[in-house]
Amino acid sequence: MVPKISTLGGYIFEYQKSVTNPTGFWSNIAESFYWRKKWDHILDWDFRSGLTKWFQGAKLNLTENIFERHLFFRGNQPAIIWEPNDPSEAHRTLTYSELFIEVQRFSNVLKGLGIKKGDRVAIYLPMVPELVIALLACARIGAVHSVIFAGFSAQSLGERLQDAGAKLLITSDGGYRGSKTIPIKQIADDAMNMCKCVTTAIVLKRTGENIPMVDGRDHWYHDLMKGAGDTCEAEEMDSEDPLFILYTSGSTGKPKGLVHTTGGYMVYTAYTFKNVFQYGDGDVYFCSADIGWITGHSYLVYGPLLSGATSLMFEGVPTWPDAGRFWDIIDKHKVNQFYTAPTAIRSLMALGMDWLQNKSLATLKVLGTVGEPINEAAWHWYHDHIGKNRCPIVDTWWQTETGGIMISPMAGITPTKPSYATMPLMGIQPMIVDQNGKQLMGNSVEGNLCISYPWPGMARTIWGDHERFVNTYFTTYPGLYFTGDGVKRDEDGYYRILGRVDDVINVSGHRLGTAEIENAINEHPLVDESAVVGFSHPIKGQGIYAYVVCTHFSTGGEEGIRNSIMMAVSTMIGPFAKPDKIQIVTGLPKTRSGKIMRRILLKIAEGKTSEFGDITTLLDPEIVNDIVKGSKEI
Ligand code: PRX
Repeated sequence: MVPKISTLGGYIFEYQKSVTNPTGFWSNIAESFYWRKKWDHILDWDFRSGLTKWFQGAKLNLTENIFERHLFFRGNQPAIIWEPNDPSEAHRTLTYSELFIEVQRFSNVLKGLGIKKGDRVAIYLPMVPELVIALLACARIGAVHSVIFAGFSAQSLGERLQDAGAKLLITSDGGYRGSKTIPIKQIADDAMNMCKCVTTAIVLKRTGENIPMVDGRDHWYHDLMKGAGDTCEAEEMDSEDPLFILYTSGSTGKPKGLVHTTGGYMVYTAYTFKNVFQYGDGDVYFCSADIGWITGHSYLVYGPLLSGATSLMFEGVPTWPDAGRFWDIIDKHKVNQFYTAPTAIRSLMALGMDWLQNKSLATLKVLGTVGEPINEAAWHWYHDHIGKNRCPIVDTWWQTETGGIMISPMAGITPTKPSYATMPLMGIQPMIVDQNGKQLMGNSVEGNLCISYPWPGMARTIWGDHERFVNTYFTTYPGLYFTGDGVKRDEDGYYRILGRVDDVINVSGHRLGTAEIENAINEHPLVDESAVVGFSHPIKGQGIYAYVVCTHFSTGGEEGIRNSIMMAVSTMIGPFAKPDKIQIVTGLPKTRSGKIMRRILLKIAEGKTSEFGDITTLLDPEIVNDIVKGSKEI
């Protein structure tokens, strides 16, 4: 067993040991799981070819580590507490035994529809317990799940279904989000019509909308579950068999389907969950992330359930019916650990202290944040008013690619500093490099964040495109995994994440590639060209600023074109990718070789118009003045 760490000194001692002998460290952790067959070899890796294999030769089924391993002690303990969108609707609790039965029944449903080990099953559902059931049923039978966030448009969903080669889609008639009802099935229908691979759909009844069902393709979830047997033997998986594909945006156009495998992801998410949040028996843990993103996968479903925790999931939004909703949920279910995004904290902070009146929050022990840098004001508000100065904040830095938390305090052990993710977790070897790849040693340095040694939770490839995986992550700094983030290591050796250094922007914790938004804008028939940059936004962290070249106008004039661009982005990606600002320009600042000078567009978006530096190399320096002038009017 791994020694319990309780002090910073203890952390440093154990950390040193873990990086001196990482394979020994991880095999020791892995021992506490249930493997049908143990590994022959702990780790094989080569960062130049982007190959990493953990626990080779080991056989297991991840769901046996959730159910069979925990049932004896935890059969009657809630595994999932589900809080619905509307507080007047009853919440649901599924104990480990109940969840196990549902998962097995749904596993039988999937098998009955011809789904086998290795098949891809796509999931496009609102935040309901059946989403967890669907994930775990896939894992039980060895199908590879791919969850697509229910805010994505039909176009985005269709592209992902096609890329993954999904055979089956699990969806619902509709979904609730705050005061809105989302027409999920309609979007799913459009997406299925676009792709050639999905032949079967399972539809959950959630809103009771009157929706068309396609004969021979669509089946109601409740009908299929009625006849399903409630035991299902788990499929034996290899440690390196894929568990899921999750799409994320990068600096180039097409979203990447990152592949996570079974054994390493299991060990890593469970280990980091317990250690970062210091989850204790009987605690109630609440992660507000959507399962459509990696945080929901790793720290709402897999990490907590593998650790035998009680995980609370919430269907709705923090501001409906009012801005006290999170705090009501925390009091109602006596939540002990709460994990959310800085954007949620900032939006609630902006709505004022009234929403905290009469909220006790006394059960809280640990607060977490994830997804984007947290500014100091938001950190202090969270710490003082939600944590009442007694709950450590774990500012957890990680990525879809890393599978789990990489740099973070361990609650109550690592002393925190506002806005700092603090220290690497066990076995994680961060390295800061300059533009030329030179390692920046010691403290008080700033540069690009790389990781120099593998960890079990890392993504293994991009679905169907290993070359892209290597090019994206392992070629900028050969021999290192490049995160795409800038970072500072301060005088105490603490890490502070500074944000993306590539063309990725982080809007309310949603990761979006600027190229992806530009592609959507460029689809508009009146747009000649566009360039998108991020700018500081008080609530969203970053907002989207689009410079759009249009030489012909339609009847609605500039306003009309702005609205139709918004629509185009909503249709191509999803409403969350709509630009905050659209400036119609006559041209973009370009170098003589035709490269857009984004540096200048960034400065204009930030209102820093006196800091351009040398612009004489521009093809048409005058264009900059025009853009600056125009920017003041929007
Ligand atoms: O820029 C970093 C930021 O979010 C990016 C990863 O986004 P995604 O893959 O969608 O995963 C989000 C949830 C893990 C990172 O490259 N990021 C994530 N956590 C933090 C962060 N930036 C600052 N501080 C964090 N704690």
